[in-house]
Amino acid sequence: MNERIALYPGSFDPLTNGHLDILSRARRLADRVVVAILENDEKTPLFSVAERIEMIREIVGDDGSTPVRSFSGLLVDFAREVGATLIVRGLRAVSDYEYELQMALMNRRLNPGIETVFLMAKEEYSYVSSRLVKEVARLGGDLTGVVPESVRQRLAARI
Ligand code: PNS
Repeated sequence: MNERIALYPGSFDPLTNGHLDILSRARRLADRVVVAILENDEKTPLFSVAERIEMIREIVGDDGSTPVRSFSGLLVDFAREVGATLIVRGLRAVSDYEYELQMALMNRRLNPGIETVFLMAKEEYSYVSSRLVKEVARLGGDLTGVVPESVRQRLAARI
C-alpha cells in the first residue's frame, strides 16, 4: 500500500482560517495529512497542547484522513515515526521565507528522504497569523472570518 502521508507541523496557538486553507490544499497532495503540534516548553502558549488538539479535531473531524498529534524532539524524527514523506508549510509574505528556507534545508540535511513543500493560502489570509489573532482578541477586535467560529468563541472565553 503506497499511501502518501504528509505532515503539517506548527504551533497552531490557535488554529486560523489560514491554517485550514493550507490544510485543505495539503489534502490534495497526500492521502493523509497529520497535523503535528509542537510541544514547546520555551513558549508560553495561550492554549495547552491538549486544548489545541481538541480544537483542531473538532474542526477537521476524525475520519482518519487528518489525524491530529503532538510531538516533541526533531520534526524529521516524528515524520519518520508516522511514515510521512512530505512536510507542508504555509508561506505568506517574503518575510516568512528566510526562516522557512533555513528549516527546510536543515530538515533536508537531517533526512534527505523527506521533502518540504510550501503552499500559499488564499490572498485574504496572507496577513493572518496566530500572534496577531491573539493580539486582536486581547484588544477586543472582531475575528469573524479570520479564525473558525469555535476558535473565536474559545478565544473570547479565554481572554
Ligand atoms: O508554527 P511554527 O511555530 O512556526 O512551527 C515551527 C515548527 C513546529 C515547524 C518548528 O519549530 C519545528 O519543526 N520544531 C521541531 C524541532 C526541530 O525539528 N527543529 C529543527 C528544525 S530545522
